[in-house]
Amino acid sequence: MTEVVAFPQSRTCPYHPPQAYQPLRESRPLSRVTLFDGRPVWVVTGHAEARALLSDERLSSDRENGNFPMPTRRFKGLRSRRAALLGVDDPEHNVQRRMLIPSFTVKRTAALRPWIQRTVDQLIDDMVARGSSAELVGAFALPVPSRVICGLLGVPYEDHEFFQEQSRRLLRGPEPSDVEQARDRLDAYLRDLIGRKRAAPGDGLLDELIADRLENGELDVEELVAIAAVLLIAGHETTANMISLGTFTLLRHPEQLAELRADPSLLPAAVEELMRFLSIADGMLRVATADIEVGGSVIRKDDGVVFPTSVINRDESVYAAPDTLDWHRSARHHVAFGFGIHQCLGQNLARAELEIALGTLFARLPGLRLAAPPEEIPFKPGDTIQGMVELPVAW
Ligand code: HEM
Repeated sequence: MTEVVAFPQSRTCPYHPPQAYQPLRESRPLSRVTLFDGRPVWVVTGHAEARALLSDERLSSDRENGNFPMPTRRFKGLRSRRAALLGVDDPEHNVQRRMLIPSFTVKRTAALRPWIQRTVDQLIDDMVARGSSAELVGAFALPVPSRVICGLLGVPYEDHEFFQEQSRRLLRGPEPSDVEQARDRLDAYLRDLIGRKRAAPGDGLLDELIADRLENGELDVEELVAIAAVLLIAGHETTANMISLGTFTLLRHPEQLAELRADPSLLPAAVEELMRFLSIADGMLRVATADIEVGGSVIRKDDGVVFPTSVINRDESVYAAPDTLDWHRSARHHVAFGFGIHQCLGQNLARAELEIALGTLFARLPGLRLAAPPEEIPFKPGDTIQGMVELPVAW
């Protein structure tokens, strides 16, 4: 069994798993890695084993469990804060999830498509009106999901700079105190917003949850604040990174891009393949609450377990030539949205946003190109959601 020095590692190329994970690929399905605090944990790299373990109730997401693995020092800052959905086990998790499912079904998401399309068109109109170049993260990749999740929740988009900043500090720190302060500020903002909405109801998922669940005591304010915080952060950070990194990746794969442009019906398959290929949420975390036998090893009670999606989604026993971007493979069954009870609640919404954002961007700007040498464009470090820090483009 191979020991990897430290986990997580940064990528060397923004769209490939870190080179340092190569030994993990070779020692599938399970290896040991060491976290920043010197703690050894299991790393699951086999696709079948990952899906089995992510659906195993002996693996817990409970962040309050003292043995929950910490991927970074700043993660400590989240420990003391109330968690919702992610970070909570069933049955509490299930109660929260069931309240939200109706708002994220395929049907509900399909009904949002015309509005998402208008949002995307408007942002491209604005970019074109300003000239023939832009910094795509700020002008497009972040505003698309940010406007969509704000509209869906009923959070005023005018406040986006405030909560984007808190969300950036939550995910990138660097200090535990940054994370604590950011979460405190975000919680205070949401508490205040919920108070204002109770006095003057508006139109959005938060308003529905207030009317249907808060006023009758099914939820208390702090639980609703925690749920709203997860939705707000998960709703825009991840999708924004998929749009920026997806655009970069397409521009670096001209053949696949040409094929997609020639046949837009490939778009849904392309989004699925990009999800697999990019695996931007590259390190789900769990702690074992009992001994579990898997792949010839035994994960002991209280052991930490990590799931690097970039390695799992390139398991060659499931995906032939896994390092190749191929619209014609079946990328389904990837674990880029997770698996099991915590599988991404917003995946239908994310797919709709990605299809519309990437499809429209490349259709409307046929000359889209990188405006800086690719190796000079900064991307995010390995200890956060993967994506581009900036993306200078021209058309
Ligand atoms: C392409 C974009 C996205 C990616 C890659 C992504 C990825 C993930 C992953 C990997 C998980 C599971 C984490 C775990 O099991 O530890 C997850 C859960 C979740 N995601 Fe997403 N997500 C995306 C977009 C969204 C959007 C747009 C929303 C909108 C609300 C959202 C809301 C959530 C929520 C609430 C959970 C927790 C579900 C639960 O615990 O039951 N995500 N996501």
